[in-house]
Amino acid sequence: MLREIHAIGKLGVLLALRPKQPAVGELAKFVFKVAPINADGMDVDETKALEIVMSRITIFAMDRQQEPEPRYYTLTPLPEKGAYSFAMRIRKNVDHRVIVAVTAKGGKDLETSYDFQTQPAKAEAHAEALPGLDEQGHLEMSAQHETMQAMGRHWTEAWRELEKKNPRWRALTNHVEAVHKLQSNLEHFHLHKFAERKAEFDVLARTFGEQLKTLHDAVQRRDREGAWQGFKRIDQQSCLKCHLVFRWGAVQDFKQVPELNHEKHR
Ligand code: HEC
Repeated sequence: MLREIHAIGKLGVLLALRPKQPAVGELAKFVFKVAPINADGMDVDETKALEIVMSRITIFAMDRQQEPEPRYYTLTPLPEKGAYSFAMRIRKNVDHRVIVAVTAKGGKDLETSYDFQTQPAKAEAHAEALPGLDEQGHLEMSAQHETMQAMGRHWTEAWRELEKKNPRWRALTNHVEAVHKLQSNLEHFHLHKFAERKAEFDVLARTFGEQLKTLHDAVQRRDREGAWQGFKRIDQQSCLKCHLVFRWGAVQDFKQVPELNHEKHR
C-alpha cells in the first residue's frame, strides 16, 4: 500500500493506494480521508476524519508520447467513517497523476495532487474490485439493490418509531442517519434503463438529501409532529416519486405525480 499525506493548513489529505504499484490491467483502489494534522505535523488524526461533501478526481497517465486523456471520478463513501474511495483500471505502464479536489463539511475546499507508478501487466493479473464499485466508479447492480433494501429497512424502522406515542429518539436518529448515508450512494447509481435521465434522477436524489436534513433537524429537536410531517413528505415526494419513474417505469413525466401537501390534508 502507498500511504501519503499532504498538509493544507491545519488539515491533511490522506491517500492510501492499493496495490502500491498497480500493474497494467489491475484495479487500483484509492481511499481518501481529510483529517486534522497532528501536532508533530507528520500524520493525521484519522479518528477525526471529516465528512467530504463534494469531490472531483482527475487522473491521467503522464505519457510523453501522447496527449493526456484525463479520466474523472467522484468519491464514494465507505462504511468506515470519513473514508472515501474510487477505483480505476490501469491501462498504461507510465507514471500517473491524481488531482484531488474535495470540499469538506463546513465548506473547506482542498486541492492537491499525487503521483504514482505502475508496472507491466502481470501474467495472471487478478483484479478484485472494491466492494460494490465497478471500474468507472459506479455502484454495481448488487450494491444498488443492497443500498435500496437497507434504505427500505431503516425507513420502515423509522416509521415504527414515529408511530409510537413516545418514540425512542436515539433509535430514530440512527435510522434517519443511516438513510441519509445511503442517500449519498444515489449519485453513483447506474441507470441501465434510464441512462439518459440521470440528471433528473440526480435532482431528485439531492432534494431527497435536503428533505432528510429537515427531518433530521426535527428529530434532533424531538419534535414528533415536525418529524412526522418530514417523514411523510419524503415518503411521497422522494421515495414514491422517484420509484414511479425510475423503479417501476409507471409514469414518464413527473407532472403526472401528484404533489401531495400533507400540511393541508391533515
Ligand atoms: C432518486 C431516486 C430514488 C429515491 C429518492 C428512492 N429510491 Fe428506492 N429505488 C430507486 C430505484 C432506481 C430502485 C430500483 C433499483 C434497485 O433496486 O437497485 C429502488 C428500489 C427500492 C427498493 C427495492 C430494493 C430491492 O432491490 O429489493 C426499496 C425497498 C426502496 N427502493 C426503498 C426506498 C425508500 C424507503 C426510499 C425513501 C426513503 C427510497 N427508496 C428513495 C430509486 C430511488
